[in-house]
Amino acid sequence: MTIQVFPYLFLLFYFHSHIDIAHAHLCESRNNVPSPLGFLNQLSQVQKGDNVTGVRELKKHLSYLGYLNYNNTYSNDQKKEHENIFDDSLETALKKYQKFYHLNITGVLDDSTITKMCQPRCGMPDFFNPNNSLPFRTISHYTFFPGNPKWQKKTLAYAFDWNVKEEAKPPLEHALKEWSSVTPFKFYYVKNVSRAEIKFSFMSGDHGDGYPFGDPRGGLGHGFAPPDGRVHFDVNQNWSWAGKRNAFDMKTAGLHELGHVLGLGHSTIVEAIMYPSVHPGERKKLHKDDINGIKALYKLRGK
Ligand SMILES: *[C@@H]1O[C@H](CO)[C@@H](O)[C@H](O)[C@H]1NC(C)=O
Ligand SMILES: *[C@@H]1O[C@H](CO)[C@@H](O)[C@H](O)[C@H]1NC(C)=O
Ligand SMILES: *[C@@H]1O[C@H](CO)[C@@H](O)[C@H](O)[C@H]1NC(C)=O
Ligand SMILES: *[C@@H]1O[C@H](CO)[C@@H](O)[C@H](O)[C@H]1NC(C)=O
Ligand SMILES: *[C@@H]1O[C@H](CO)[C@@H](O)[C@H](O)[C@H]1NC(C)=O
Ligand SMILES: *[C@@H]1O[C@H](CO)[C@@H](O)[C@H](O)[C@H]1NC(C)=O
Ligand SMILES: [Zn+2]
Ligand SMILES: [Zn+2]
Repeated sequence: MTIQVFPYLFLLFYFHSHIDIAHAHLCESRNNVPSPLGFLNQLSQVQKGDNVTGVRELKKHLSYLGYLNYNNTYSNDQKKEHENIFDDSLETALKKYQKFYHLNITGVLDDSTITKMCQPRCGMPDFFNPNNSLPFRTISHYTFFPGNPKWQKKTLAYAFDWNVKEEAKPPLEHALKEWSSVTPFKFYYVKNVSRAEIKFSFMSGDHGDGYPFGDPRGGLGHGFAPPDGRVHFDVNQNWSWAGKRNAFDMKTAGLHELGHVLGLGHSTIVEAIMYPSVHPGERKKLHKDDINGIKALYKLRGK
């Protein structure tokens, strides 16, 4: 984590102290691919009342993440004139985002907020209904999908699609093992994907499920709620099988997406596996919050 953050902060300070173009570097391109959230760089410090090109994209993005219902904001006739206006509902949504990510709750699209939004993350939204309040309970910060869907059986078959590299399989199997060590779930391998409950695949671009890769909606990967069982990773990301610095750790991503497959939503706890964003090279294990979440969902004893 620190490996990535320190040189980056340095760069930021460097530009701040010399030329005032620091905002142009918040959402950086990676592998020479411009960030799909690059429009945020032009929105530094926008706030309520502003009418600036790009605010519409910010509204769409916060809608994908479940913080805003952009379509409900105005009627179609009014949309053109109001689409780029930073209005009350956008401010409310932005404050909620800032609260989820432990940022200063300013309602202003400040540089820390832009930087957080540009960080690589899971494609699943943080909220499934923008009306839902934050999951701030006293100790645990885990969430579930709407209606608390869960698996009825505890023995589940998993399979790898043809496009899963051999090197990706052991870390994903380690992730399954780690989940089964804290739950009654048992996972067994089957070759035939259509016989499996849990299906791992690597996809690229728009692959027909509403979570396109190469677009903020897909994220680095995503996993669907029970009883769907699909786990998708972006084939065009650098993945690491054993802690490479510049790549995303496969086991960490597997643990996260399997959390969704078992029924967990996102957590506000930074150390939890179900926290939405991740740094290249970062390796995580299940956290007490993840374990409390799965135990609460399946009503298991011994929290
Ligand atoms: C918003 O409305 C447009 C058309 O009015 C529709 O195509 C789109 O799917 C809607 N999006 C959401 C998130 O409801
Ligand atoms: C916002 O700006 C756009 C383009 O500059 C303009 O067409 C629109 O009328 C403005 N909206 C309001 C409410 O001022
Ligand atoms: C929050 O605001 C304080 C005081 O202005 C500042 O020192 C701190 O860096 C801010 N934190 C973030 C995450 O922006
Ligand atoms: C959210 O709340 C508003 C106002 O109470 C309501 O009109 C809307 O239907 C709610 N949306 C959902 C998805 O529950
Ligand atoms: C895979 O399983 C499906 C469903 O049980 C079956 O119809 C299909 O023939 C199997 N394919 C192979 C190659 O065994
Ligand atoms: C992917 O790996 C290449 C070569 O190791 C490296 O140059 C690049 O920065 C990495 N990309 C990301 C997004 O980490
Ligand atoms: Zn997720
Ligand atoms: Zn997908």
